[in-house]
Amino acid sequence: MKILVVGSGGREHAIVWKIAQSPKVDKIYCAPGNGGIGECAECVDIGAMEFERLAAFAKEKEIDLTVIGMDDPLCGGIVDVFEREGLRVFGPRKNAAILEGSKAFSKDLMKKYGIPTAAYEVFTDPEQAMAYLETAKFPIVLKADGLALGKGVLICGSLEEAKAGVKTLMLDKQFGSAGDEIVIEEFMTGREVSVLSFVDGQTIRIMTSAQDHKRAKDGDQGLNTGGMGTFSPSPFYTAEVDAYCREHIYQKTVDAMRAEGREFKGIIFFGLMLTADGPKVLEYNARFGDPETQVVLPRMKNDIVEVFEACVDGTLDQVELEFEDNAAVCVVLASDGYPEKYEKGLPISGLERFAGKTDYFVFHAGTKRDGDGRILTNGGRVLGVTATGADLKEARKKAYEATEWVEFANKYMRHDIGKAIDEA
Ligand SMILES: Nc1ncnc2c1ncn2[C@@H]1O[C@H](COP(=O)(O)OP(=O)(O)O)[C@@H](O)[C@H]1O
Ligand SMILES: [Mg+2]
Repeated sequence: MKILVVGSGGREHAIVWKIAQSPKVDKIYCAPGNGGIGECAECVDIGAMEFERLAAFAKEKEIDLTVIGMDDPLCGGIVDVFEREGLRVFGPRKNAAILEGSKAFSKDLMKKYGIPTAAYEVFTDPEQAMAYLETAKFPIVLKADGLALGKGVLICGSLEEAKAGVKTLMLDKQFGSAGDEIVIEEFMTGREVSVLSFVDGQTIRIMTSAQDHKRAKDGDQGLNTGGMGTFSPSPFYTAEVDAYCREHIYQKTVDAMRAEGREFKGIIFFGLMLTADGPKVLEYNARFGDPETQVVLPRMKNDIVEVFEACVDGTLDQVELEFEDNAAVCVVLASDGYPEKYEKGLPISGLERFAGKTDYFVFHAGTKRDGDGRILTNGGRVLGVTATGADLKEARKKAYEATEWVEFANKYMRHDIGKAIDEA
């Protein structure tokens, strides 16, 4: 088979790496890809939002299956374009990707179908949002409806802060039209867990749990980022939590989407909070999480291409997912200054130490290859260093060891990825 992956981050590197393990695959392309992806796929210089060019490329190269990694093209309807052209593609159509693309939609869906989530109201009028806040309890959470690069959620400790937040989102339009509508929701407390799943429209298969670290600095300080590290499984995702979510959240979400005429095929990422009242959905994503993918896929035993095909064909009920009985930790190596200002174009050394290892992985997020074949930094998050181990502690020790193998100027990482492991 020939496969095309659309995207360019650590997530896509992990997906491409996993696809490359499949005996069914002869050739992998990745558009646009990055410096590391180039080692297991042919990178193609077409942007992820250039749907027509991507579809034309897929036709020309007779691609058997295209896998979409990123949220923007999914919410923009790339799957619809590919299907219209008669191309096989893995991911939700635009009318289903709205599960991630509109927080107001997902909240209303959960309310309508009795899926546990925080209490909320939706506002399109800033005046009404302000008036509502006058009688609200604090802290309170404001969420821009649309995609906002993970920055559209504000947790406000006081009325003043919340009013300023409404202004930022709805009047100043810091996230553009993503803030035309906002969700104001109850503040919850508890541990957060991410759960990834495959869905074929009807059947859902849970992969495993993971936990992300969004803040830039140790101790969950600093600005929000795309993710500074992950571990899998989460020790807090117990059999009891799993049973509850299977009964009240996972299948119900898939059935709700079908009932709405928005059959969901692809990945559903459940962002959960384990509250005193039981697990509740914080949000849905309509694709693999990054960097969760970098700890989940190295633990997966299945041929991922078979699972992708089962989702597209609607035969996921015949597939059982299998994961290693181990653990994985990923530490992101960033450029100091991320997520604000940072340098690019710095040479990276030591990557060859990962070659041929089956328990250490380096996934490239922001890298590029120069004319001499050297790998240079090309983004804020540069690499994801993952290690697997018998348990979380061993995986963490190995992952941090491996962070020392790689060098580049201004290398920055958090030192407390997986700290929660000690509290479990
Ligand atoms: N109702 C809530 N109560 C407490 N914290 C929340 C709530 N909603 C979101 N958060 C926090 O904000 C983060 C981002 O919110 P989320 O809904 O996942 O949006 P996004 O990932 O699109 O930014 C969550 O991971 C969580 O830490
Ligand atoms: Mg989130």
